[in-house]
Amino acid sequence: RIPRPYTVPFASPPVLAPVRRDATTDYYRIEQTAFTGQILPGVNTPLWGYNGSVPGPTIKAQRGRRTVVRQVNKLPAVHPTLRYTPWTSTHLHGMPSEPQYDGYAGDNSLPGQWKDYVYPNACEARTLWYHDHGVHHTAENVYMGLAGLYLVSDAVESALPLPRGPYDVPLVLSDVAFAENGSLLWEDNSHSGVYGDVNLVNGRPWPTLRVARRRYRFRILNASIARGYRLRLSNGQPFQVIATDGGLMAAPQTVTQITVGMAERYEIVVDFATVAAGQRVQLVNLGVANAPDYDHSGKVVQFEVTGDAFDPSNNTVPATLAPPHPAMALTAAMATTTRRMRLERSNGLWTINGKTWDDVEDGDYEPVFANPAPGDVEIWEVENSSGGWFHPLHIHLVDFQVLSRNGRPPRPEERGPKDVVYVGENETVRLLMRFSSPDGPHGRYMVHCHNLSHEDHDMMTQFQVGEHDA
Ligand code: C2O
Ligand code: CU
Repeated sequence: RIPRPYTVPFASPPVLAPVRRDATTDYYRIEQTAFTGQILPGVNTPLWGYNGSVPGPTIKAQRGRRTVVRQVNKLPAVHPTLRYTPWTSTHLHGMPSEPQYDGYAGDNSLPGQWKDYVYPNACEARTLWYHDHGVHHTAENVYMGLAGLYLVSDAVESALPLPRGPYDVPLVLSDVAFAENGSLLWEDNSHSGVYGDVNLVNGRPWPTLRVARRRYRFRILNASIARGYRLRLSNGQPFQVIATDGGLMAAPQTVTQITVGMAERYEIVVDFATVAAGQRVQLVNLGVANAPDYDHSGKVVQFEVTGDAFDPSNNTVPATLAPPHPAMALTAAMATTTRRMRLERSNGLWTINGKTWDDVEDGDYEPVFANPAPGDVEIWEVENSSGGWFHPLHIHLVDFQVLSRNGRPPRPEERGPKDVVYVGENETVRLLMRFSSPDGPHGRYMVHCHNLSHEDHDMMTQFQVGEHDA
């Protein structure tokens, strides 16, 4: 039933049209529903999705123009096999949102309820994603399909001669396993993570994309629950990294491989003009720690080079892409505080500085990890000593700069604005960030591991920007 890799045609998620537009705002409506879809050709699989699509439809926004998304929870009262109630909370990952629109863990919509989320899009062009964040069931909900892309563009990006239109292609990576009856198989051994033997790109198993002999921009998102990827092209060809989680790099980085932890986004440009017509090139996965290596875990997506490009325009990567992103313009000397964060495992729970999210919610100790004033700059030093696991740490609200990894410069692909950082076993990363501004969003935000099984059990804490109301 599992197709041979590279036999399924590639497709991108649909783009969502607004239900209404006015002078300042685009309004969208999304229903979270249960439906039966076919991920494996000919096999019916119960899924949960946004507007009946897995991944969800892509929302396209423009910097400075507001978006309002009505999220309607029409999910069934209980999960078909895991028997929990799917309360949902939608997080737009990468958007500096007001806290009440940030998908906070306790801000749940039960089946039958809805919520309007307001996004100012007051950020640089970037690739974001929206996904469920319902407390303790984020992993199950995302695994069932509740994730989609959200793209912000701006004047700087639009003026660049980068590949666009059909040559600007999303690659949403995830891995799933199937039970005998076609349903998604959920096996989470001691909350360490759920892994599958089938790699999906935009919800399709190991697809093949036909490409012309020219440059393509690929927006890579790792939407897996627990699998990290180390990606390279099968012919060893170099490619350019042009953007990270928080948007464009100042200058492209030429590399032959990138490491992509869960929730990280990397935008790369690949030039297929160097490949002869009729040749095939694959994007392959060399793997990182923790994930089991099944027969085809090393395969991701195939590019079949058809012939010369019909459209040769917007086919360059300039040496300078954008003025330095605000997060990259920070210097360590601007930081007023350095904080330490330890990622560990104790008694079967994943902890941050020895605490779990339940400890935080119970409020039986100082319930915030940090309480910066708006505009403060801080260094966070994150150390992982958790017995062989890697943790992609995500900080809500901010874009940060990776100062160092084990005292050395970050990997080339990490030299842009980030909101998730891959922290390997026994690694220490130093992060530099500014917390909003006096007129920016204030309040309480989450910080957590983006291995979603770890997040649910219970590797999450929070910080408060501005007035501390606890
Ligand atoms: Cu992508 Cu708090 O999540
Ligand atoms: Cu983790």
